[in-house]
Amino acid sequence: MKKISIAIDGPAAAGKSTIAKLVARNLNYTYIDTGAMYRCVAYCALKNHVNFDDETGVSALLKNIDIRMLPDGTIHLNQEDVTSLIRENEVSMGASLVSKYQAVREFLVDKQREMAQGGGVILDGRDIGTVVLKDAELKIYQIASIECRAMRRHKENMERGIASDLEAIKAEIALRDEQDMTRKISPLKKADDAIEIDTSDMTLDEVVAHVMNLVAQRV
Ligand code: DC
Repeated sequence: MKKISIAIDGPAAAGKSTIAKLVARNLNYTYIDTGAMYRCVAYCALKNHVNFDDETGVSALLKNIDIRMLPDGTIHLNQEDVTSLIRENEVSMGASLVSKYQAVREFLVDKQREMAQGGGVILDGRDIGTVVLKDAELKIYQIASIECRAMRRHKENMERGIASDLEAIKAEIALRDEQDMTRKISPLKKADDAIEIDTSDMTLDEVVAHVMNLVAQRV
């Protein structure tokens, strides 16, 4: 069967990575979490005491950044396993801030294109359908209401035993979306040829089945 490239973009906490992972597993495709790469840059800035607002300082870090996404799903930054460290709130906000810098975007987009070569890949992020893989055979723009996204994140936190404040999550998500949609370079927006899926009232299984259907029409 023909191996295609799939792009999933959308706002924060819309469940893109959950869907992308499940679809990748069904199709035996490689899943590439591009948000994790921006998170690695933010984590590196934190570790080196470089302010997220310092474009020159953040850009200078890039030459010493080695990001590895291993087949077991773990993410390593300069040989350190940062898989859970990059999920901290401070890193989420930092990722959104450093992602507006041209040097950061160029560095990561090159890597993403390299990793996506040959097809059989599913990438999720903010600019996959509009920039990284403009020719992807399937582009999805996955959205959900802010209430729904915040509530899902809140439930996830509670299940993991992490202290969680629904209103704070809502505010953080809204701020990150605003930053990601209004930045000058590659802002989050739906590609003209992307198919929008509003998952607010859909179960996980329904979303996966819908995406699998769209894939079947293209292979
Ligand atoms: O998908 P995520 O929440 O892990 O992404 C973290 C931040 O990284 C997000 O707020 C904006 C940035 N990002 C981006 O600018 N472009 C991408 N392709 C993926 C993420």
